[in-house]
Amino acid sequence: MQRRTFIRLAGGGTLAAAALSPLAACGAGPYYPAQAVEAWQGPVDEIDARRRAVAYAITAPNPHNLQPWVVDLREEGAITLRVDRDRLLRETDPLGRQILIGHGAFLESLVMALAEQGIASEVALWPQGTQTTQLQAWDERPVAQVVLRPGGQPDPLFAQVLRRRTPKIDFDTTRPVEPARLQTLLASVSQGAGPAAGGTVDTASLEALRALCWESAKVELRTPRTMLESIRLLRVGPAEFLAHRDGIALNTPFVRAMDALGLFDRSLGPPEGSAGYKAAAERFEAHSRTAMGFVWLASGNTRSDQLQAARAYVRLQLKATELGLGVHPMSQALQEFAEMAPHYERVHQLGRPAPREAAEPTVQMLCRIGYLPGDVPATPRRPVGALLQL
Ligand SMILES: Cc1cc2nc3c(=O)[nH]c(=O)nc-3n(C[C@H](O)[C@H](O)[C@H](O)COP(=O)(O)O)c2cc1C
Repeated sequence: MQRRTFIRLAGGGTLAAAALSPLAACGAGPYYPAQAVEAWQGPVDEIDARRRAVAYAITAPNPHNLQPWVVDLREEGAITLRVDRDRLLRETDPLGRQILIGHGAFLESLVMALAEQGIASEVALWPQGTQTTQLQAWDERPVAQVVLRPGGQPDPLFAQVLRRRTPKIDFDTTRPVEPARLQTLLASVSQGAGPAAGGTVDTASLEALRALCWESAKVELRTPRTMLESIRLLRVGPAEFLAHRDGIALNTPFVRAMDALGLFDRSLGPPEGSAGYKAAAERFEAHSRTAMGFVWLASGNTRSDQLQAARAYVRLQLKATELGLGVHPMSQALQEFAEMAPHYERVHQLGRPAPREAAEPTVQMLCRIGYLPGDVPATPRRPVGALLQL
């Protein structure tokens, strides 16, 4: 299930924790109406090469499944990618770094989908300059422009694009991740100008990282404005899944019934100690505890570095799909809001002496890894047409 789920009843009550525990399976198979997840069939009847590529690219991983992409097809022979400024995470991602990771993931998927059709991509990042770190100053300037050229070599990882999932579930704790498999995964991230990939399945390091994930999750849960950001993105039941086709899915019969009765209050976060809070915290704790390894990507932190890290991230997740491994981001410690600062510092200090210096690499992604106990459902996507500028 998604990482933040909690219930507070209108009128001040709270749901029993037992009623919430099935949320662990939130988003499972029959929960999503077929139309909401139709993207995962690929571009069925589409013949236009650019639209076909975009149809694959929208399946890219992105924070909170906000799908913050605007795709401009007005220039013949090119695809221009912009940020949808109505789809930012102003509280948990105040510098816009994570939103741009979602753009880099889109871009990499787009390039792969074009290559699959025999089209090479000439990619210019930030052709009109970069966005600042002030979200309120973000403007229309493109994140990237892709000019289509003849050529393009199909990429073996493309076969995993429609199979890729982010597993928001407990991993199989009876199945350790083999060190050799971790190395195969990490080796798939080409180094060069891109981010450095690191990882561990070592028991001692695992404990420290599990604790870091859990401690940082508590900060997000206990900070009202960051918690509310997630609550506002909750989608409850098939009607909301279909209406939005984005965000954080919540779909147990009990929660749906409470919502239908007007008893599910989404204007407030549950107070610490309430059953709703405990249920949400339990999920974070279980995800942290069942991490069977960790992988991370670290790089410089320019806007282009962030996009390059993202391109490597989606490739890492696709390679993991090929290897039968789950890769699940645990991004709380990487969030750049004030209350998280001690954990942000800690994640950058792991394995090196403190304090961190400005020139040291930024951890762009931190993910738990493990084997999956079962299938993971595909998450909704908005129709391609909703993203296009024509
Ligand atoms: C930059 C970034 C950060 C993310 N952080 C988290 C996270 O902290 N917890 C989580 O459950 N998923 C996280 N995700 C995964 C997204 O929630 C997921 O990609 C999205 O819901 C779509 O689902 P899918 O990847 O299965 O298609 C992150 C993804 C990205 C790109």
